[in-house]
Amino acid sequence: MTRTLRNALLGNALLGAAFGLALAAGPAGAATIKVGVVAPFSGPFGVVGKSFKEAIEVYQAEHGKTVGNDTVEFIYKDLDQANPAQSKALSQELIVKEKVSFLAGYFFTPDALAVAPLIDEANIPCVIFNAATSAITEKSPRYVRTSFTLWQNTVPLAEHMAKQGIKKAISAVSDYGPGIDGEAAFKTTFEKNGGTVVDTIRMPLKSTDFAPFMQRIKDSGAEAVYAFLPAGPTTLAFAKAFNDTGLKAAGIKFFGPGDLTQEPDLPALGDAVMGITTTFNYSRAHDSAMNKAFVAKHKEMFGSYDSVTFTSVGAYDGTHVIYQMIKNSGGKIDGAKAVESVKGMSWESPRGPLTIDPDSRHVTQTIYLRTVEMVDGRLENVEKQSFPKQPDYGYKLAK
Ligand code: PHB
Repeated sequence: MTRTLRNALLGNALLGAAFGLALAAGPAGAATIKVGVVAPFSGPFGVVGKSFKEAIEVYQAEHGKTVGNDTVEFIYKDLDQANPAQSKALSQELIVKEKVSFLAGYFFTPDALAVAPLIDEANIPCVIFNAATSAITEKSPRYVRTSFTLWQNTVPLAEHMAKQGIKKAISAVSDYGPGIDGEAAFKTTFEKNGGTVVDTIRMPLKSTDFAPFMQRIKDSGAEAVYAFLPAGPTTLAFAKAFNDTGLKAAGIKFFGPGDLTQEPDLPALGDAVMGITTTFNYSRAHDSAMNKAFVAKHKEMFGSYDSVTFTSVGAYDGTHVIYQMIKNSGGKIDGAKAVESVKGMSWESPRGPLTIDPDSRHVTQTIYLRTVEMVDGRLENVEKQSFPKQPDYGYKLAK
């Protein structure tokens, strides 16, 4: 779309939104600063929205709902599946009608990508709590991301697999942004370390029948499979098919980023993932005082910590970044300046130490190698090794 046309469609409404924002400040100088969160709150990926909302509420319970004189209010919009047009419509509604100063959330890559023109037009920071394709933050200077990228998790995993003496592997990924990044990161790194990727399988994002892909894996002669699918019913079905079609029994080793073994799915996955090795930025079983307090606070506030997983820390740390941007702005938020003010910011998270890389605006963090084990009667991702200060290896990589 041309800039002129986009301006005609959005510009007036967004200018109006910015004007409304200025008026939101009350006479005493106290204002309500609104944050719009777009995520799945219903449907098969509903646990994502729940984990975002709970983590935000934990953060606000610990740090208060005010920054200076201003109250921070979160407004939630349900986007139940990857749907960029609907993501854009909901985000525009948040900007124009709700007059939010920040956008946040976004589970699926296409939904995060769809808001680039909006956030630039309205000069609003967008803090991505999950969507993990490297190229996203290249599309607008107003994106900041507190999750992970597929490159970030996959490089240490591929190196580990090569070190295990695995020579022939196959990649199987969902056919969209993060899957394609995962495949590229895996192939490049595994082959640089002496391995061969015998085949690369791309599966439609909406696949539910994985039997044909399992046959292809079996026929490939690979000793090991690297797999990425978005965490949820997709990973659950894939891991079950891996077991049910006899690949596990045939001795093929199963690896992937930790999306495969997200905590809320572990009880249903059970035997299918016992002993599987993954790399990821967060495990609910991470052994630190801060993480223990984080998990305990969920239990205290919501009666259980069953939904605590990687999306929880994405949202918790994202909320921390938003609070910091509000603090730095002295209550008068200019989106571009707010993003500028958190470049290079470092802090301690329940997952470990984090820094916002000033160039990629993505978090540099420790990636952990984990295996699924039974701990006190619950399946957990038990950390075995850590790889500190991992950047987004996929940022500005020639694609
Ligand atoms: C994404 O669409 O970027 C995405 C979704 C789910 C994941 C990871 C990445 O588990």
